[in-house]
Amino acid sequence: MPDNTQSTLSLPPGPEAPFTVNTDQATFDIIPEWLDTYGHIVKVYSDTRDKSGYLVNDPDMIRHILIKNPANYIKGPGFERVKMLLGNGIIVSDGAFWRRQRRMIQPAFGKRSIAKLCEQVQQCNQELLNEWRLKAENNETFDLTYETNKLSLQVILRVIFSEDVDYLVKLHGSDPFEFLTEDTTRDLQVVLKFRSLIKLFQNLINWRREHQPERHDFLDFFMSAVDKESNETMLDKELIDELMTAIIAGHETSAITLNWSWYFLANHSTVEDKALSEIDAAIEQQPASFEQLINLKYIKQVVSEALRLYPPVWLFSRTSIEDDQIGKYDIPAGTDIFFSPYYMHRHSEYWENPETFDPERFNVENSKQQRNQIYIPFSSGPRRCIGDFFAIVESQLHFGMMLPEFKMKVVDSPSLELEPFINLRVKEGIRVILSKR
Ligand code: HEM
Repeated sequence: MPDNTQSTLSLPPGPEAPFTVNTDQATFDIIPEWLDTYGHIVKVYSDTRDKSGYLVNDPDMIRHILIKNPANYIKGPGFERVKMLLGNGIIVSDGAFWRRQRRMIQPAFGKRSIAKLCEQVQQCNQELLNEWRLKAENNETFDLTYETNKLSLQVILRVIFSEDVDYLVKLHGSDPFEFLTEDTTRDLQVVLKFRSLIKLFQNLINWRREHQPERHDFLDFFMSAVDKESNETMLDKELIDELMTAIIAGHETSAITLNWSWYFLANHSTVEDKALSEIDAAIEQQPASFEQLINLKYIKQVVSEALRLYPPVWLFSRTSIEDDQIGKYDIPAGTDIFFSPYYMHRHSEYWENPETFDPERFNVENSKQQRNQIYIPFSSGPRRCIGDFFAIVESQLHFGMMLPEFKMKVVDSPSLELEPFINLRVKEGIRVILSKR
């Protein structure tokens, strides 16, 4: 009998020519053309994967896949390199194992736990503040992108290992994490270097078991986490994969967010003034308390708007397990689904003046009216970013400390050319100069 399944399906429109969607420049460049030509759902055949994928840019369809029927979708393509880096960490795992890991890890990212970690984050920012004071005094022009990258790495390492970062450096004989800011390619060499940290982490885990030091950090949390349903704890291998995941997931994403938030603050003096007034009114003396920080609502609006225009995770994906339907279209089992926060956030059908930087989009009133699922920098549904709250607090703390001291100016207007890899970066670091207020 002839196979006529395909002909009875209702499939979205799309280009004839094969194309393999990936976190790369070609995909970044072609998406706007597709959305213009075919609308909010586009079917494209990949000859290298030998199957079709859909690019979905419709809030209701996104809601269906990520929130209503997430059990039918596993992580999609584009994670191959991340998998090499992260083993079976929570960002790449699926099914029952992912659910167990998420249950165990989730409380570490809750309000109470993050409040305890604030001191570590404050310390990292204090060190940067001292360095920036010198830069300001010397009228030094420097690379903001590199600096935010360095800061975010320190922050994520300190919240995971607290003072034992120093122990790891001592054990290793030099800074074992330096390559993460010095070599941002994430190529195979970086993968190998990163995976070689396994031994180092295992040593630290053994040392903690033996010495039982009192620590408030993610490692302590992960080591003592017990799954409520199975009563299981994590094996060391699983634990190490989760540490690696937190480092990779929490480093560059936060760095990019700080980078762009600073860029916009430096170029929008009314926004900067409003942010400063908020900080002045809320924080009487440094260091600010956790409650004061999370109440910096306008800073949160600024950061949210930076994340709208430059979402670090600009493309992510799922693959359907069984046949499904969105709108009038069929999704056969095994279809790859791609979402692009970058293009979703800039679509003129969902946003007024989408290219304009305007933190008022996220004030209480406007947020209430915002359509669901048009703003997805942290994804949505049960697999939404586990570090979303932490990332915002990290930014509130950073600006709460830095903005009252420094005025930033962007020098020699940089190209701002983007590099759309796993994360959306700037090709050349943004060059800035600071003056003391
Ligand atoms: C502004 C900063 C950040 C952005 C934009 C961001 C974005 C995202 C996105 C879009 C996803 C979901 C991907 C998908 O659905 O396939 C995700 C997942 C995740 N993120 Fe973040 N992230 C940020 C910061 C962080 C931080 C600071 C951490 C940890 C300290 C973190 C840890 C994770 C983890 C563990 C997952 C996987 C969650 C799961 O699958 O259950 N992220 N993030």
